[in-house]
Amino acid sequence: MQTVRVDLADRSYTVHIGAGLLNSGGAVFEPVQGSMALVVSNETVAPLYLDTLTALLKGADVQTLVLPDGESYKTLETWSKIIDRLVELRATRDTTIITLGGGVVGDIGGFASASYMRGINFIQVPTSLLAQVDASVGGKTGVNHPRGKNLVGAFHQPTAVLIDINTLDTLPGREFSAGLAEVVKIAAVRDTGFLAWLEDSHAAIMARNPGTVTRMIERSIVNKATIVSEDEREAGIRALLNFGHSFAHAFETLTGYQQYLHGEAVAIGMMVAARLSEIRGLCDNGISQRLAGLLTAFGLPLEVPAKLDSEQILATMKLDKKVLGGQARLVLLESAGHGLIDSDSKTQQVIEAIEASRA
Ligand SMILES: NC(=O)c1ccc[n+]([C@@H]2O[C@H](COP(=O)([O-])OP(=O)(O)OC[C@H]3O[C@@H](n4cnc5c(N)ncnc54)[C@H](O)[C@@H]3O)[C@@H](O)[C@H]2O)c1
Repeated sequence: MQTVRVDLADRSYTVHIGAGLLNSGGAVFEPVQGSMALVVSNETVAPLYLDTLTALLKGADVQTLVLPDGESYKTLETWSKIIDRLVELRATRDTTIITLGGGVVGDIGGFASASYMRGINFIQVPTSLLAQVDASVGGKTGVNHPRGKNLVGAFHQPTAVLIDINTLDTLPGREFSAGLAEVVKIAAVRDTGFLAWLEDSHAAIMARNPGTVTRMIERSIVNKATIVSEDEREAGIRALLNFGHSFAHAFETLTGYQQYLHGEAVAIGMMVAARLSEIRGLCDNGISQRLAGLLTAFGLPLEVPAKLDSEQILATMKLDKKVLGGQARLVLLESAGHGLIDSDSKTQQVIEAIEASRA
């Protein structure tokens, strides 16, 4: 088993990574013994792993709540269902929410734990690659609003994260690829050596070689944990993790969250941001091509859909939380493995980058 510590003073916690932890990782749940645990999962993941997880929770009063599956359910209505259940159960402040599922379950369950009685403990058990490498660590919780993604939420750190890489055995290929987009993102803005390693290891990663996948998850989390420890509330450096995301959120919103998985939208967004970095002369030409090679090897889309015009995309981005004071604040690249936060792009340059990213 590998562990990564997220260092945040009294909110520090450990991420446990290994094969078979859903069978053997009971120690992580010791703090829950003697109190109530509400396991929040969804209709896809619950039949696969809920029984195994609840068997680990011996000594706790275990309650479960199974939500419908999908990003379209990451709403205040679903959040409200979790709160209603906690009220019904007369949950107290020593109740723990355990989220079992992908980033959607983690974000909604985390937000319920952030808000119920002004905050109760929660433990993340992420089962999608995207949630394992990114969403389960760092304490961002929340739900979507029809006008924008993640518009309602809170920072609330989990007390532990348990990653059983065996859960990836049941994850569909398209979802696995979507998770890889967030891995590429972290490497692209932060870790030159990791980016090169991903390029060298792409075949073993796509074959889901357990050793390679474990190393990849661990290195992604180490990078994320370091950033979160430095800047928990995104006052500065943490914004680097939004590479590709301002564009991605516009693509997701404009397609009604139907066409793209989050990671797919991020892949296209990273391509636009890399091209913008080149247009701005911030980095060598060729970075977008290098990124395109890796994203293609990982089975991800690269092109902005023809049906979304640039003006529409820009208008939607103005609502994004990451755009401050009406000025586009974007994460760009100064080299492969080094991101920067920039607000000097001209509208025309952004449009040029979008247009250069069409089929
Ligand atoms: N909080 C953060 O820091 C953060 C970071 C990145 C993304 N996110 C959020 O995460 C969400 C995307 O997460 P996601 O990609 O995990 O989506 P998801 O939660 O919708 O999971 C993807 C699909 O895979 C299924 N699934 C999950 N694990 C499985 C398994 N082991 N076997 C079979 N099926 C499985 C799910 O039921 C779902 O159908 C978005 O809402 C995004 O905004 C949050």
